[in-house]
Parts: sequence; C-alpha cells; structure tokens
Amino acid sequence: MINSKIIDDSTDPILVPQRSIHGGDKLPGIGMGTFGSDRFSAEDVAAAVKGASEVGFRLFDCASVYGNEHLIGEVFHDVFKSGIRRNELFITSKVWNDMHGKGNVLLSCAKTLKDLKLDYLDLYFVHWPFPNFHPKGAPPDYHNKDARSYVHEEYMETWYQMERLVQAGLVRHIGTSNMTIYKLKLLLHDARIAPSANEMELHPCFQQPELFDFCIAHGIQPVGFCPIGSPTRPDRDKTSDDVVDILDPVIVKIARIHNVHPAVICVKWAVQRGQIPIPFSIYRSEYSSNLKSTVNDLLTNEEMEAIKTVDKGCRLIKGQVFMWEGARDWTDLWDMNI
Ligand SMILES: NC(=O)c1ccc[n+]([C@@H]2O[C@H](COP(=O)([O-])OP(=O)(O)OC[C@H]3O[C@@H](n4cnc5c(N)ncnc54)[C@H](OP(=O)(O)O)[C@@H]3O)[C@@H](O)[C@H]2O)c1
Repeated sequence: MINSKIIDDSTDPILVPQRSIHGGDKLPGIGMGTFGSDRFSAEDVAAAVKGASEVGFRLFDCASVYGNEHLIGEVFHDVFKSGIRRNELFITSKVWNDMHGKGNVLLSCAKTLKDLKLDYLDLYFVHWPFPNFHPKGAPPDYHNKDARSYVHEEYMETWYQMERLVQAGLVRHIGTSNMTIYKLKLLLHDARIAPSANEMELHPCFQQPELFDFCIAHGIQPVGFCPIGSPTRPDRDKTSDDVVDILDPVIVKIARIHNVHPAVICVKWAVQRGQIPIPFSIYRSEYSSNLKSTVNDLLTNEEMEAIKTVDKGCRLIKGQVFMWEGARDWTDLWDMNI
C-alpha cells in the first residue's frame, strides 16, 4: 500500500500549500509535469509519476501530445488500488492543436479519459490557441505549411466544445495555455464558462508580471510551466540568447544559503509567489526535493524581493515551430506587435 509506506523522502500532502479555483475547489500548490521532452521515454515518465505519487504529489499535469497517457493511466489505476481516492488527486490534461475542429475536442477528451483510466478530469486545457502543430521530435527549423495565426471565432468554437465537456460532467474545470492578455480579454468577453486556470511559462528569468497579475485579478489561477527554466527542453526550443535560471548568480547564492540545488529555489519561489509550478524530473531525489521545498525552509521576504530582480523577460518556449506564413517572427505568436 502506497499510503502505509513510510518513506523518508515523502511529504505529507496535507502540509503542501493549497490553492482555490472557481467554485471553491481546492488543488495542490505544486504539481508534477509529465512531458518527456523528446528525451525521456514514456516508461520513464510513467515510473516518475508512480514515484511522485509515493512521495506525496497529488497534482499531475498530463497532455495527449506527450504520448504517455496510456502508461500514466496504468499508474493511476495502481494508485487508486493502493487506497488513494480519486478526489485526492487533481489531474489535468490538454487538447492538442490538431484536435481543435468541431467535435474533435470531445473525441480527444474521450481518448485521454480512456488512456488515463478516469471518469473525469479535474482540469482540461486548450494546449495552444492555434491549430498549428508539429510532428514529435520536429527540428528547430520545422514549419507546417498549413499553420495560421490566431482566429478568435475558431478559438471560440474550440472553447464551446470545452464548455460542453463541463456540462457533461467529464471535466470539472477548463483552462487556457500559452495565452496573452489580448487573447484572454477576447475569451472572457465571449465565454459562457470562464477559464479556471491559465498554464503559462513562468520561471525566475521569465516572470510575466502583467499576465500573472491579469490572471489573478480575473480569478484565473496561473499554472507555471518550465519552472526551473527547462534545462532538458527539446533542441527546437533552444536559442543562443536563452538565459539559464539555475546558473543565475542570485538564485545560486540563495541556493547556497538554503543548501539546496538552484532548481529547488526556483520551485520555492514559484509556490510562494502564488503560481502552481509543475516541475518535471524522472529522478526521485529531484522530484521529492521539489515537493519538500514547499513545506520547509521557506524563502524570506528579502529573498523573494531579490528574485524579482532576476527577471530578464527571457521566454524559452517561443513556439517558432507554430509560426505561419507571413508572421514576422515568434513575437507575433505572443501579440508583441499589436
Ligand atoms: N502548456 C505547455 O505548453 C507546456 C510547455 C512546456 C512544459 N509544460 C509542462 O510543464 C512541465 C515542466 O516543464 P519542463 O519539464 O519543460 O521544465 P522544468 O520542470 O523547468 O525542468 C525540468 C528539468 O529540470 C531538472 N530538475 C527538476 N528538478 C530538479 C531538482 N530538484 N534538482 C536539479 N534539477 C532538477 C531536470 O533536469 P535533469 O534531468 O537534467 O536533472 C528536469 O528534466 C512539463 O513536464 C509539462 O508538464 C507545459
């Protein structure tokens, strides 16, 4: 029984900070990422999800495009058999860009539920606001000739299908991902069910303060991806200008004071700031220390202030592979030229 195992590296989930979303539902203030990054196998990721549940993680960030939901579903099945109840886990997934068309969101969600062996998802995201996609392992210069810019009417078609999933009881909450304030304003104007959360890139060198504040002001919980600066991200998401959060002198100095890896400071900062970080690792020592960091030896106000100054506005997941014909460069994806 996972519950009855006393493992030194575990953290009692009750102690982990909680957040509230629409309707008062509570969720853990930290989750486990499951994107194998084209570097780790589906088996490695599923084993990490199992280990993460043992050390006390209760939120898991899944997606159909990660190609591992069928194996993670086996793990969830075992987790429930071990005595953990469904309502103790908070499980998210995402509809991939090739399934935005009418009826497809419902099909995609049905496949995810089947793969994850669940009756419902706690939160379902629209992964990207474009129907543009790339094959697994796409190189940095990949371009899809059918790629196109954001079309609000098309996004709303996708969103209304998301709303139907809530009405059908298959999904408790719906959310957005990789959005901008411009697009969120359009969505909030037209949505019948507002997003409960927005999954966005957030790490010390990319704090997105305006979007973060906008989400908080509109009751949208920020979920932070690449919280450590994604050192193992695919090559297609690397450019020569990228900064490395875990080498930043302020982060490194604070890490020395707390006697932890700089990655752990990135996670602590994220939780204390109020976003929900979803760090990924296949190594038990890493993911257990990420979870433990939320309950012990917290950062001081001075350290939180110092980390504010680390922001370089350095976006890592620029989305170059989603660019369309006529786009000036990746900045168009983020409405930076409007
Ligand atoms: N919505 C979206 O579009 C989107 C985009 C990207 C990611 N995501 C989600 O966000 C999750 C996290 O993002 P990510 O995996 O790209 O980046 P990340 O969590 O910032 O970085 C993961 C890497 O950090 C290292 N690490 C983790 N914990 C550590 C620790 N305690 N000490 C030292 N190193 C540590 C590991 O590298 P080593 O293996 O070298 O130790 C690991 O591979 C993904 O898994 C996915 O669920 C969503």
